[in-house]
Amino acid sequence: MQRIFSGIQPSGIPQLGNYLGAIRNWVNLQADHECVFCLVDMHAITVWQDPEKLRNQTLTQAAILLAAGIDTDKHILFNQSAVSAHARLAWIFNCVTRLGWLNRMTQFKDKAGKDRENHSAGLYVYPSLMAADILAYKATRVPVGEDQKQHLELTNDIAQKFNHDYGVEFFPEVEALIPPAAARVMSLRDGTKKMSKSDPSAQSRIELTDDADTIALKLRRAKTDADVLPAEPAGLADRPEAKNLVTIYAALADLSVEEVLARHQGEGFGPFKKALTDVVVNAIAPIAQETTRLMQDETHLANVLRSGAQRAQAIAEPIVSEAEKIVGF
Ligand code: ADP
Ligand code: NA
Repeated sequence: MQRIFSGIQPSGIPQLGNYLGAIRNWVNLQADHECVFCLVDMHAITVWQDPEKLRNQTLTQAAILLAAGIDTDKHILFNQSAVSAHARLAWIFNCVTRLGWLNRMTQFKDKAGKDRENHSAGLYVYPSLMAADILAYKATRVPVGEDQKQHLELTNDIAQKFNHDYGVEFFPEVEALIPPAAARVMSLRDGTKKMSKSDPSAQSRIELTDDADTIALKLRRAKTDADVLPAEPAGLADRPEAKNLVTIYAALADLSVEEVLARHQGEGFGPFKKALTDVVVNAIAPIAQETTRLMQDETHLANVLRSGAQRAQAIAEPIVSEAEKIVGF
């Protein structure tokens, strides 16, 4: 059975892009993989986090993942900072990766914008910590959204350079598992930006704990154009907001974009947004309800994470100790 590693930052409530790009895939992959799922709190602090909020969000996120169907009887769920192997391997990888490689990372450029000098060194070396997260488990498959594709290519570059420099065949090649549909969900306010839980505007995203009224309101206010829905996908070219809403509908209703358009062609966005609201509420309401139930027992959630960390540690410790031996520690 192949081992999967994947992570999500506890820097807010997971949003629809996290669900379609990652979490829904995680749930399905559990059937035939050994899964290690991680709340990457060390990645979260690459930008400022209020400590109390970070602690709370870590528990909330654990609840959401359990509610979405992560099965911790069979698989591992833990928070990153609880397993020191991540930090130790990340340091080794910081010394393997080249500045030129990091300079090419578009996520850093997107997040830092023009104000590069005022961002943390952690945000800059984020991809080498991500490589360490995966390779501390020698995981071979990583379910992620499309925004992480470049980081996974860098993971393979780092692994290859490590193997080459030290003359070993130690770290395996890693494969990105990017969902075929809705691999990149866009902001509801700006069709050129990805939906993100760290976007300052909560109107830009659907959160997995939003209730039906909130979802309806956010979709009603979502940016669109004045045109009607076309009959063919080609009619969505150069209409990023319209394309995004149709893509979300298709992904959540398990339909193709063609099928959605066949049903709704000629409709304006008023009625289409109503239909979309039903589809989103149907998908998310059960998760939100179960999350509320699970949040009533924080001790249980903390125990789930603690036992997950022990199981994660048992896998990562021998691998990272061996890497340390290889570099001469
Ligand atoms: P965020 O940008 O919301 O903070 P994370 O960095 O925590 O997201 O990413 C967690 C997972 O969700 C990753 O696998 C990432 O690829 C996926 N993901 C994040 N945003 C989107 C999006 N807008 N569309 C598709 N997948 C996404
Ligand atoms: Na992110």
